[in-house]
Amino acid sequence: MKRYLVIGNPISHSLSPKLHNYWLKKNNINGIYKKKKLDENNLKEIFSKIRKKEIMGINVTVPFKKIVIPYLDKLTTEAEYTQSVNTIYLQNNKIIGHNTDIKGFELAIKDSGYDIAEKKILILGAGGVVPSIIFALYNMKVFGVTLCNRTKTKAENLKNLFKNLNVIDWGEKSDFDVVINATSVGLKKGDELVLDFSYFKNCDFFYDVIYNPKKTNFLKTASKLGKKIENGKKMFIYQAAQAFKIWHGVEPEINDEVKEILDK
Ligand code: ATR
Repeated sequence: MKRYLVIGNPISHSLSPKLHNYWLKKNNINGIYKKKKLDENNLKEIFSKIRKKEIMGINVTVPFKKIVIPYLDKLTTEAEYTQSVNTIYLQNNKIIGHNTDIKGFELAIKDSGYDIAEKKILILGAGGVVPSIIFALYNMKVFGVTLCNRTKTKAENLKNLFKNLNVIDWGEKSDFDVVINATSVGLKKGDELVLDFSYFKNCDFFYDVIYNPKKTNFLKTASKLGKKIENGKKMFIYQAAQAFKIWHGVEPEINDEVKEILDK
């Protein structure tokens, strides 16, 4: 039986096993996907298992997306550009690191029906997922991307990867079409970003990377103002589907049942 893993710390919240095991079964693939909580000093051991084909593929989540890079033989263009790896596999005896968060975000936006080309984008936050979102936004030919992070230096640092990025102060007023919450605020019930929504009166689309809860306070407020909203669920499903396709050579079906199993 082929073994797959998602590694992170914490990891208990991860819904990746549910999704991958569902698709494995649906496609009659003799495999199992588990989650594993790791410390950084366990990474070497995990990678030796990949090399020995005891593990056939790994998904990587917080806080290891960048930390795993020195353990890999090769990065795909997407992983190299964003310095972020979420999918690992063995190809011709080389351990490859790839990033499917980018395509995941792109497909989720396309699926939402919102035409993001030429739009002015504001991203709140500068954490692990943000380079992938920026890369995807540039792929989708947005007008420009502005970052706004509580700790401004972290946003400034991303200019090393994306030189056209604009960075503003937390709470600074500016004009945007789309606001993306990529902070962790909203994960806990009652969490609320201290934001003046009157700044966003010209924005028509509000996106939250968080999908559990389904509607963060950020999305609730936007929804009350009659704005289009979208949470991170489709991004999560699409990034997983891209990884599945790489590992098994099969495009998994994304249907209502898939969306429902994540709610259970
Ligand atoms: P990491 O930064 O380790 O990659 P993350 O969960 O990917 O972790 O990112 C958390 C993001 O949420 C960061 O942008 C963080 O801002 P700081 O860089 O200032 O820490 C942001 N964040 C967390 N709590 C916040 C809060 N109460 N208000 C505003 N932003 C917050």
